[in-house]
Amino acid sequence: MAKPKPAAFTCTACGASHSKWSGRCEACGAWNTITEEAPLSAGPGAKSIGAVKGDVIALASLSARETPPERTASGFEEFDRVLGGGLVPASAVLVGGDPGIGKSTLLLQAAARFGAAGLKTIYISGEEATAQIRMRAARLGLSEAPVMLGAETNLRNILTTLEAEKPDLAIIDSVQTIWADTVESAPGSVAQVRASAHELTAYAKRRGTAVILVGHVTKEGQIAGPRVVEHMVDTVLYFEGERGHQFRILRAVKNRFGPADEIGVFEMTGGGLAEVPNPSALFLSERESASAGAIVFAGIEGTRPVLCEIQALVSPTPMSQPRRSVVGWDGSRLAMILAVLEARCGIPFAGLDVYLNVAGGLRIGEPAADLAVASALLSAREDTPLPQDTVVFGEISLSGALRPVAQTESRLKEARKLGFSSALLPEGSKTGSEPGMTVQQMPDLAALVGGTFGAG
Ligand code: TYD
Ligand code: MG
Repeated sequence: MAKPKPAAFTCTACGASHSKWSGRCEACGAWNTITEEAPLSAGPGAKSIGAVKGDVIALASLSARETPPERTASGFEEFDRVLGGGLVPASAVLVGGDPGIGKSTLLLQAAARFGAAGLKTIYISGEEATAQIRMRAARLGLSEAPVMLGAETNLRNILTTLEAEKPDLAIIDSVQTIWADTVESAPGSVAQVRASAHELTAYAKRRGTAVILVGHVTKEGQIAGPRVVEHMVDTVLYFEGERGHQFRILRAVKNRFGPADEIGVFEMTGGGLAEVPNPSALFLSERESASAGAIVFAGIEGTRPVLCEIQALVSPTPMSQPRRSVVGWDGSRLAMILAVLEARCGIPFAGLDVYLNVAGGLRIGEPAADLAVASALLSAREDTPLPQDTVVFGEISLSGALRPVAQTESRLKEARKLGFSSALLPEGSKTGSEPGMTVQQMPDLAALVGGTFGAG
């Protein structure tokens, strides 16, 4: 029997192996991601690696005491928070986001703060000329900031400059514009992005310099050269927000030096990004009087509670297939809640368009928002507002039962701080004692439907 040939082509997006090159990966559907890889062994006569001795690795025990990495806080607190409390030397950080969302602005401001905090900081742009960056700095009131600027796209020149200057922090804006002369493909291609990110990350480890790479996200929501850059770096931050909105959220999706899922909240102003130390107040600032379909959810983002409004609109559809439209939450989770409402509580949404929106451009990933979403849907459908001083949270299971969620006490505390005085939550929640807070606990969704909204 003939041996199967080793696959010589690999998709850099999903890792699938192919026997021949093609423009599109059949496994994940991505275009131009298939590259040739050297086969695993050098031929039939080659020895396996294990047959020839190498060096013995020095092994250590788990109990050895390790000092936590010393960090530099910039004083740009929302930024420091997302990094896990400040910048760690020799770390590689990727900041991704849509074009035009404000990455260059954010990093120029961060560079100025780190410079002022004593780090020798170099900002290299492959997208803008130094004159343009200076103009932006003037607009941000940072003309005197201790930051050195460079405009360059050639990786070799960048690395040579960094080796000569020995900065503590190097910011590269953006990794898609950098090209290595050893790689024969266009800047921005997967191979170039991978090579540049690899070299810059290796430089960070070698010289103890913190390196921040900026990366544009592609339409599919991934940084070009998907996953290729993400796994190379220590920390991956995404800068998100609605273009028409002034709020911007910096979210840690991976962090070797701090909690993932931490967020920092900013507001884009005429003079750059302003920190928002109390996001709940901001997300609720546009809230009007109690209206049907609008529910305040007490969520947890990273390590802190954040309140926001969940809005639903339910209206008869002229179409045969009703619309389900979601902004800021998971569409399949919405489908699940609609199904539970229908199957367990007898509330049909057939023939009704459903729109769900998380106000302020926040994106919620927590199942704890289930109960708030269900309340918003019911409130919209029955045209019955909840009292304005009420917050809602809890998870819904497929049986229609409500499940308590983590950190109930800190959610209630935040709600109390912002002037809310009643809460609707699952039975069995560990509420502690929050004075001035009336807590109503429910065993299942049917209790909410019948008791609160008088429907069903
Ligand atoms: P930018 O940082 O260039 O975005 P990115 O690097 O992610 O592509 O920001 C672009 C937008 O930010 C631009 O539309 C103008 C706006 N902006 C402000 O509103 N205020 C400011 O002070 C600055 C510098 C930019
Ligand atoms: Mg930019």
